[in-house]
Amino acid sequence: MAKVITVAQQKGGAGKTTVAAHIAVALSQKGNRVAIIDIDPQGSLGYWHKIREKKLGEGYTGLTFNSLSGWRVGSEVSRLRKQCDYIIVDSPPHTETEARTAIRSADLIVIPVQPSPTDLWATKATLELAKNEKIPVKVVLNRVAPNSRLTQTIADELPELAETTLGNRVLFAAALMEGRTATEVEPASAAAKEIKDLVKEIEKVFIEEEDEEDAPTSKARKKSFAPA
Ligand SMILES: Nc1ncnc2c1ncn2[C@@H]1O[C@H](COP(=O)(O)OP(=O)(O)OP(=O)(O)O)[C@@H](O)[C@H]1O
Ligand SMILES: [Mg+2]
Repeated sequence: MAKVITVAQQKGGAGKTTVAAHIAVALSQKGNRVAIIDIDPQGSLGYWHKIREKKLGEGYTGLTFNSLSGWRVGSEVSRLRKQCDYIIVDSPPHTETEARTAIRSADLIVIPVQPSPTDLWATKATLELAKNEKIPVKVVLNRVAPNSRLTQTIADELPELAETTLGNRVLFAAALMEGRTATEVEPASAAAKEIKDLVKEIEKVFIEEEDEEDAPTSKARKKSFAPA
C-alpha cells in the first residue's frame, strides 16, 4: 500500500512544487513506484512533468502524473494506493478547503518554510490543520542562508522540524526548468545531497510508524536546528 505525502503550505512560493518534484524523483530513483498528484490550479507540477515527458519520453519519466481538483484527491489516492509505493500530492497556496482535503488523505505532511517571519506565521495554519487531522508532519526549512541568526530564531519557533534543511540553490530551480531534478542533473551536488537526506528522514518516519504499530512508544520530539 502506498504512503501518501502531501506537500502543503498556505504561504505562496514557499517551495511546495520544488520540494514535491524533488522528493518524487528521489524516491523513484530508489526503485519505488511513485505517483504525483497536482491539485494546484496553477498546474506548475504539470508543466514540469510535461517538459519531463518531452525530455525523457512519455511513459519514461519514472512517475505517474495526475492533475485534478482538490475535492477528488481522496478517491484518486484510494485508487492509486494499490498501484504504487508513494503518492506525492502538491497542493495550492491560500485555499484552506483544498489543502484540508489533501491533508486528510496524507500519511505525512511536508511543510516547506522559508526562514522569514511571514512564512513562519503562515505556517501555523497548516500545522493546525495537520494537528487536527492527527497526521505526522515534517517542517522543512527551505532557501536557508548559511549561518543565519534569523533562521535559528525561526527554527526555534517551529515544531516537528526536519533535521535536513534546503539551501538557497539555483540548481533546484534550474533542474526543474529542464523537467528534471537536482539528484538527476548533478547527483554529487549539495542540493542533491540535501534532497537525499530529506528522503531518508521521510522514509524513517514510515519505518518508525511500522515499528510503533508492533510496539507503541512515544516519539513526538522537537528537533533543534544547527546552522551549517
Ligand atoms: N531551495 C531553493 N533554492 C532556490 N530557489 C528555490 C528553492 N525553493 C524554491 N525555489 C524557487 O522559489 C520559487 C517558488 O518555489 P515553488 O514554485 O516551488 O513554490 P510553491 O510553494 O510551489 O509556490 P506556489 O505557492 O505558487 O505553488 C520558484 O521560483 C523556485 O524555483
Ligand atoms: Mg506550487
